[in-house]
Amino acid sequence: MNTQAPIGVFDSGFGGLTVMKEIMRQLPGENLIYFGDTARVPYGTKSKGTVLKYSRQIVHFLMTKEVKAIVVACNTASALALEEIKQEIEIPIIGVVEPGAKMAAETTETKTIGIIGTDSTIKSGIYTSYLRQLDPEITVVSRACPLFVPLVEEGLLEDRITDDVIERYLHELKDYGIDSLILGCTHYPLIRNAIRRYMGPDVHLVNPAYETAKSLKAMLKEQDLINRSGNPAGYQYYVSDGVDSFISFASDVLPCHVEKAEIVDIESY
Ligand code: DGL
Repeated sequence: MNTQAPIGVFDSGFGGLTVMKEIMRQLPGENLIYFGDTARVPYGTKSKGTVLKYSRQIVHFLMTKEVKAIVVACNTASALALEEIKQEIEIPIIGVVEPGAKMAAETTETKTIGIIGTDSTIKSGIYTSYLRQLDPEITVVSRACPLFVPLVEEGLLEDRITDDVIERYLHELKDYGIDSLILGCTHYPLIRNAIRRYMGPDVHLVNPAYETAKSLKAMLKEQDLINRSGNPAGYQYYVSDGVDSFISFASDVLPCHVEKAEIVDIESY
């Protein structure tokens, strides 16, 4: 395997950029290709069959770019499609759910963990089962927050409307005495300041992006796939629609300016 080959990172839209940012920070020597399925976002309200079909198409597209590994930077796709796709491809692929659950299990003291995500992620029960495997004494309180994704995609990161929606979704969680809250959707770290304000300083917000980048690094090391060429890392961006809004959003989120993104006809993969 060519260690200079890029790593593919994908999400249903903009949210996976929070994971991309963390990978850039922890693995500055790696070439990365990001795909955001902006034409078909959101995934969080769709069935397993649809999310699996979309994820397979994206993986096929990334394979044409000869990626050496893939990061599913979307909780919904990690919850509904990762297990199947793992069996279908030869290269390593990791998602965000397992690393996020691990981090929360290590952080909690009260053993009461909150988890918020899309409808599909919450219904899949995947976080609860990982957390229980890690520690059967953990109590999990979960809540789907379907409006968070459109609020983030609209750029309403600091806005009265977002504060109102946060209160509406999270007020029950406050009564359960959780000490950790997993941001179980890659869009949510973008509104973490507003969530933190509402939940207060005693609730630790778990952003699976950090732990995912750490797991990716460990996996690349183990498989001897780290790019040691010393060349500056290159980043490429692809979307299925809306290039201009992607470029402006990505330039805000990432530590570098995004000059261009290309449209991919993802249905053809
Ligand atoms: N960013 C995706 C996730 O982590 C979901 C957004 C969507 O519904 O597509 O689940």
